[in-house]
Amino acid sequence: MGHRLAASDALFARAAQVVPRGIYGTRGPLLVVPGSYPLFVRNGRGARFWDVDGNEYIDYMCGFGSIILGYADAEVDAASREAEASGFSFSQPTEHFVALAERLSQQIDGMAWALFTKNGSDATTYAVQVARAATGRRKVLCARDAYHGSYPWSTPGDAGLLPEDTAHIHDFVWNHLGSVQRLIEQHRGDIAAAVVTPYHHPAFDDSELSANGFLQELCRLARAEGFLIVSDDIRVGFRASLRGAHTVFDYQPDLVCLSKAIANGYPLAVCLGSEEVRRAASSVFTTGTFWMHHGPMAAAHACMDRLAASDGVAQMAARGQQLIDGLQQVATRHGQRLTITGLPAMPKVRFVADRDMFRLQAFCAAATRRGAYFHPHHNWFVTTAHSEEDVQRTVEIADAAMAETVAAGDRPFA
Ligand SMILES: Cc1ncc(COP(=O)(O)O)c(C=O)c1O
Repeated sequence: MGHRLAASDALFARAAQVVPRGIYGTRGPLLVVPGSYPLFVRNGRGARFWDVDGNEYIDYMCGFGSIILGYADAEVDAASREAEASGFSFSQPTEHFVALAERLSQQIDGMAWALFTKNGSDATTYAVQVARAATGRRKVLCARDAYHGSYPWSTPGDAGLLPEDTAHIHDFVWNHLGSVQRLIEQHRGDIAAAVVTPYHHPAFDDSELSANGFLQELCRLARAEGFLIVSDDIRVGFRASLRGAHTVFDYQPDLVCLSKAIANGYPLAVCLGSEEVRRAASSVFTTGTFWMHHGPMAAAHACMDRLAASDGVAQMAARGQQLIDGLQQVATRHGQRLTITGLPAMPKVRFVADRDMFRLQAFCAAATRRGAYFHPHHNWFVTTAHSEEDVQRTVEIADAAMAETVAAGDRPFA
């Protein structure tokens, strides 16, 4: 059966009548080659999903990273169902709330308390408020092109915003200590926090690890200057370590934000903090009607149990490395050069000498049409459900996609 998207396109035509942009944000068709990507999903299992036209894909986006054990994981789903059988959403929290806060504040290195929200953006926004409350200062430093959520202080968009929304947010350049030092000199005594990811993973560029002790020096400056370090571990999270990616990349934050994979796709985010910022955290008012929802909290327990029992972090790293090695061999065979950066479980792929990224877009589209779902402008994600055979099959698909891409030459898409 060929790759047909008639049902997906028909749903999108309906959505476009009643939803702004049809599908908004990063899930819409704007970032990918039209006619190659499914826009609506029917179901998922393990490392695969099926779209509404019945096409099957080995998935390398995995709910934008929220799926870490594969779709429809029996144990995680059972834990959530069991909790929700007693009632779905209450006014007050259940015991899962306390147990998960206890577990995470012990497990995430250096943290003493936890506050649950639904989305990563809620958690980073709260962390910034806590840092401002703790220091009595206004300024927040963020790496240029880093993504910390879609609220007015952090969104990469511009419509509907006021200059005041970002008046106290200042960009430094990742791995350029001089750009941090300049901001410190400009705003000495008024910096509340630097928000950092464990490594830099911008949408349209290579992933970049901290080099020459950049993160460690940033932390040292923070202590010396009296501002806090917020670790936005929302994307990297449990793909690096169950104790927080800062333990792998060797820096010590005051606040840690986690979300995405912590409950294998169930909506949950958490901001954790050190003992020193507990009082400030208590002083900040925050809440959400659905933030006490206990199903995702039960799911998070089951997800962490499964990851710990199966050494999931090592498994994902091995499958990711297998994929990277396979893609590099495919590229060489077709006379191409790929740069692949970031953690092996979250590879960011690009062609060398492909400035407009048309070749990357064409390759990812050709792979997707053949059943390996590759996004051209985001790092990919591997789960513990990706088997050696899945990755082998993916590399075969990549080989055919590469042949098509090279034969077509570089040209923009109409
Ligand atoms: C590093 C990082 N921070 C924050 C967020 C925002 O999380 P959410 O989309 O759940 O609001 C994301 C989402 O992609 C992210 O990757």
